[in-house]
Amino acid sequence: MVDTNTLAPEMEPNRQLYFMAKSREYVKRKSEELGRNLTVHITTFGCQMNAKDSEKLLGILEKIGYEETDDEKAADFLIMNTCTVRENANQKVYGHLGMYQSRKKKALHRMIAICGCMMQEPDEVAKIRSSYRFVDIVFGTHNIFKLAELLYQTFTKKEQVIDVWEGTDQIVEDLPAVRKYSFKCGVNIMYGCNNFCSYCIVPYVRGRERSRQPEDIIKEIKQLVADGVVEVMLLGQNVNSYGKTLDNPITFAQLLQQVEQIEGLRWIRFMTSHPKDLSDELIEVMKNSKKICRHLHLPLQSGSSRILKLMNRKYDKEQYLELAAKLRREIPDLSLTTDIIVGFPGETEEDFEDTMDVVRKVQYDSAFTFIYSKRTGTPAAAMDDQIPEEVVKDRFDRLLKLVQSIATTQCSRDTGKTLEVLVEEVNEKDPSMVSGRLSNNTVVHFKGDSSLIGTICKVKMIESKGFYYLGELVE
Ligand code: SAH
Ligand code: SF4
Ligand code: F3S
Repeated sequence: MVDTNTLAPEMEPNRQLYFMAKSREYVKRKSEELGRNLTVHITTFGCQMNAKDSEKLLGILEKIGYEETDDEKAADFLIMNTCTVRENANQKVYGHLGMYQSRKKKALHRMIAICGCMMQEPDEVAKIRSSYRFVDIVFGTHNIFKLAELLYQTFTKKEQVIDVWEGTDQIVEDLPAVRKYSFKCGVNIMYGCNNFCSYCIVPYVRGRERSRQPEDIIKEIKQLVADGVVEVMLLGQNVNSYGKTLDNPITFAQLLQQVEQIEGLRWIRFMTSHPKDLSDELIEVMKNSKKICRHLHLPLQSGSSRILKLMNRKYDKEQYLELAAKLRREIPDLSLTTDIIVGFPGETEEDFEDTMDVVRKVQYDSAFTFIYSKRTGTPAAAMDDQIPEEVVKDRFDRLLKLVQSIATTQCSRDTGKTLEVLVEEVNEKDPSMVSGRLSNNTVVHFKGDSSLIGTICKVKMIESKGFYYLGELVE
């Protein structure tokens, strides 16, 4: 038998294009046997990075001849793109695996793959290897571009394929991706994280920070706009440190200015900003921009300077408050949102009160609140004084109440104004309405039909419902 691997080109992306063609032949034969197209279902856990990765996986699979299906029960290929940022994200995966095992028994040609952040943890891979033999492919976050090659290996070798890389400095460009929405799209500008916040597993599972070349980013966005995209979301764990390690360093603010120049692009969003690196240059660029949305997600994590130090966040309470005040002053219509962790090891009632104090002072438009989750291998997991569950629960409830009451007031401040809304979908509950978002990310529902999807409409904010608006189309 000819060893396919010796015939395959060595350079990417050509190597993967080669394996896409090879796998396609196999999928075609199988489809002919079954008398229908083969289908794939991807379950995605976690953040926008994972959502974007799933779009890339789907892009590769469509090239191979798979068709996407919503029907998880019937799909020929089941993929789980996992998250491990908190324990509960992790548990969901094993719940799904049980169900997959019974599905596999019902149709032997059914394939199962697990990828994503959880697979970057050696203990989890060992568990799959020993106790979940029915899983066909395991891969990690660094080699998702290799799906076609891994799939081809399973087709030909018929044994469990496990390929997880510890790290990488490689960025493979020019591979296919599909888009969940026709009018908006996430665009990676950097991968990995170098911050090592002491509670966080992301740097261990996503590797070191790597920025894409600005030319590659601009080229991708221009192509997206030519395909009808009006809004892009620039993605990175810490976009404010974008470009620092490039041979020709550029700042995130400079990149934004280049993106702003792209004709036809209407709105620009980005995620996530680390407060320690948020520059005056960025504030200036945002302030003068016609396209950058009036929304900044600025994770606080804790309001206590003592805890922030233990978290390795590199800012203190005062610096954060100053930054938030400056942002409010310079860009008054900006909506500020945040992430907060409750119950970090050693958190006292006084520390927690500092968090409540920052929340009251900053007046967030919304906040994601998380109960601290111990992640093996992170410095915080080894810290003494893990906080008892009932204490954390009580603090969490108090924080949530405060966050919600402030968000309700903040959300209603635009009542009566006419604002631009990018329409995203027909309303799930009431098909005579559509739903979209304001520049500041608040959701708006108003009477309209599917022809409005992907367009930016002028809508009057009639009534605030706490965290969304009911509006009325003006033109
Ligand atoms: N890079 C982003 C965050 C990515 S993780 C940033 O720095 O803002 C998203 C959020 O999950 C974090 O902001 C944090 O609030 C939360 N998180 C991360 N690790 C956690 C842990 N061990 N327990 C609870 N929440 C955690
Ligand atoms: Fe995790 Fe901190 Fe990196 Fe965000 S910046 S991904 S919280 S280590
Ligand atoms: Fe989860 Fe990985 Fe994102 S751990 S939050 S999916 S980077």
